[in-house]
Amino acid sequence: MCGIISVLSFKNKISEDLISALERLEYRGYDSAGIAYVDESSKLERIRSVGRVQNLKDIVENLNIGSNLGIGHTRWATHGKATERNAHPHICNGVAIVHNGIIENYQALKKDLLNKGDEFESETDSEAIAKLIAYNINRGNGFVEAFKESIAQLVGTFAIVAIYEKEPNVLLGAKIGSPMVVGLSSDKNSFYIASDAAALASLAEDVSYLEEGDLVAATKTDKLTYEILDSNRKKVLRNVISNATSINDVSKNGYETFMLKEIFEEAIVARRVYDNFSYNINDLKFDGVSIIACGTSYYAGLLAKYWIEEIAKIHVDVEIASEFRYRNPVLSRNLLYIFISQSGETIDTLYAMRLVKEFGSQTVALVNVEGSSLAREADFVIKTVAGTEVGVASTKAFIAQTLSLLLLFADKKNIDISQIESSINFVLNNHYKFAHEAEKIKDSKSLFYIGRGVNYPIALEGALKIKELSYTSAEGYPSGEIKHGPIAIIDENVYTVSIAPFDKNFEKTISNTQEILARNGKILLITTEKAKAYLNELLGDKNLDCLFLPDANSICQPFCIITAIHLLAYYTSKFKGHDVDKPRNLAKSVTVE
Ligand code: AGP
Repeated sequence: MCGIISVLSFKNKISEDLISALERLEYRGYDSAGIAYVDESSKLERIRSVGRVQNLKDIVENLNIGSNLGIGHTRWATHGKATERNAHPHICNGVAIVHNGIIENYQALKKDLLNKGDEFESETDSEAIAKLIAYNINRGNGFVEAFKESIAQLVGTFAIVAIYEKEPNVLLGAKIGSPMVVGLSSDKNSFYIASDAAALASLAEDVSYLEEGDLVAATKTDKLTYEILDSNRKKVLRNVISNATSINDVSKNGYETFMLKEIFEEAIVARRVYDNFSYNINDLKFDGVSIIACGTSYYAGLLAKYWIEEIAKIHVDVEIASEFRYRNPVLSRNLLYIFISQSGETIDTLYAMRLVKEFGSQTVALVNVEGSSLAREADFVIKTVAGTEVGVASTKAFIAQTLSLLLLFADKKNIDISQIESSINFVLNNHYKFAHEAEKIKDSKSLFYIGRGVNYPIALEGALKIKELSYTSAEGYPSGEIKHGPIAIIDENVYTVSIAPFDKNFEKTISNTQEILARNGKILLITTEKAKAYLNELLGDKNLDCLFLPDANSICQPFCIITAIHLLAYYTSKFKGHDVDKPRNLAKSVTVE
C-alpha cells in the first residue's frame, strides 16, 4: 500500500533520490504522490499530485530543487478520497510528515487539536500527526522530544517519518505495525528511511529493518550518524544486512511490463526454488497442518493441501487470514501453522500469526521478502526465492510458494524439476497462443474457471487474476459444483475456462464441460496433448477453443497450467487496455485490515 522514502544528505540533489525511490515504490499500489523538503533557505516546501509518480516527476524536474533533507510518499487512499489535499506529506508550522498505516485515535486527537484552535485541511487521519508534533514543539520541546511525545500519543499501526524546517539536520522515523527500513549510502553521504528495501535499491547496499516500537533519529554534523531507540527508548543496534533488492530486480529488462517479465521468470524461479531448497521439518512434532494466508497465497495453500494430504497423509486446513483472526479459532499445539505471504507484510496474516504465537504453537512463515515482518516474527522461516515481484498481480511468487510447499512435504528426489521447467518453458514459448485466446474471452461479461482436484485452486487463482487485472467478474469453481447453482448463470455471453489436463479427473471435468456447452456457454478448454485422442469421442465434433499443454506426471502437471492461466490473464488485461502492473484500487502489500 502506501510507500515512504526520506533522505538526509550532504548532497543537495536529494529530489532525484526521492523521485527514483517513489518510482520503485509504485508497485505497492497508490493513487497520489508527494514530496516535502527543506530548501537552501531553510524553508519547507511541498509538492503533491494525484495519479502517477510521473505527474510529480514532471513538476519536480522543472524546479531545480536544492535540498539536503526531504520526505516522499505514495498514498493508497484509506481515510478520504485520492485528492491532492489528502495526499502526503502533511505539514503544519514547518513540520512535515509522511505516514503509512492507520491512526485509530485520530478522531479524538483531531477534536482535541481543533479545540486548541488548529484547522485541518484534509480528510486524513495522518494530518493529525503533523499537527500534534507542531503542537508539542510549540509547547517548548525540541523536535526530537516533540516527535517522541507525539508518537506516544498515537494508537494504531504506523510507519512515520518527520522533518522540521527549523532543524534541517535531523530526520526522524518511528514504526509500530508497518514496516520501516533504514540504510546509509555506500559513500556514507546520505541516510535513508523507507517503507521497504526496494525503495532503496541503488541507494543503500546495506539496510536494517526496524523492530516494533523502534524510533530512529539521524543527525548531520560533520558526518551523518543515526541511532535507533527501542520501544523502551533504549539505544539498540539492529542487524545490518545486505539489501536483497537489486536495481535489476526492479527494472523491466526489456519486457513491456513487470508482470510479463515475472511470468517469463516462472521456469527459472521453479529451478531456483528446487536447487536452493534445503529446509526440513523433521524435528518439528505435529499431527496436522493449518495454512493461513490471503489472496493468491491462500490459493497456494489450497493447492498444497491436495499434495500434502496425498503425499504425506497429514490432515491440512487452509484458512483466509482475516476470517481466522476474527472467528475465535480453536488452536492446537499439535498443529503446525504455516503462514504464506509474498510480501511478508499482509496485516491479517501477520496478526493471525501473532495470535498463534501467543497461544504457543509453532509458526512457519513462507515469505518472499527477506526481512519482512512475518519473516522476523515466525519461529521458522522458509524463503521462496522468487526474487522481487513488482507486478501487483502475484505470478512467479505463486510458483515459488506452491513448489516450496511441495518440497517441504515430499521427497525432493521424487520431484522431477526438469519436467516442471520444460513444461513451463513450453507454455512460455507458445505465449502467442494464449494471447490469441485472450482476444476471444476479453469481452465476455463474466467468466468461470472450473477444475477438479489440484485444478480447483488453480481455477480460483485464474479467476482472481482475471478479476484483478481485467475488472471482469470471474469465479473459480470446482467442476462438480457448477450444477449446484452457478450453471443458472451460463448463457452464450459467459465464457468458462475449463482446466482439464489428461489426468484421473479428465473425463469427469469433460462431462461438466459438456453440461455448460449444452446450455450454450462458451468454453476455453485448457488440456494436455494426450487428451487430443479422446476429445472427439467425448465432445463430438463441437468446435471448441482448446489450449494444449505438455503432459507431465500428476505432481508436476499443475506448474505449467499455472503459467498458462497467468499468461491468459495477462493478455486479457493488456487487450482491454488496462495498466497490467498497477491494476486499479489494488496494492501489492496490504498493510491495513
Ligand atoms: C495476487 O495477485 C493479489 N494481488 C493478492 O491476492 C495477494 O496475493 C494477497 O494480497 C496476499 O498478499 P501476500 O502474499 O503479500 O500476503
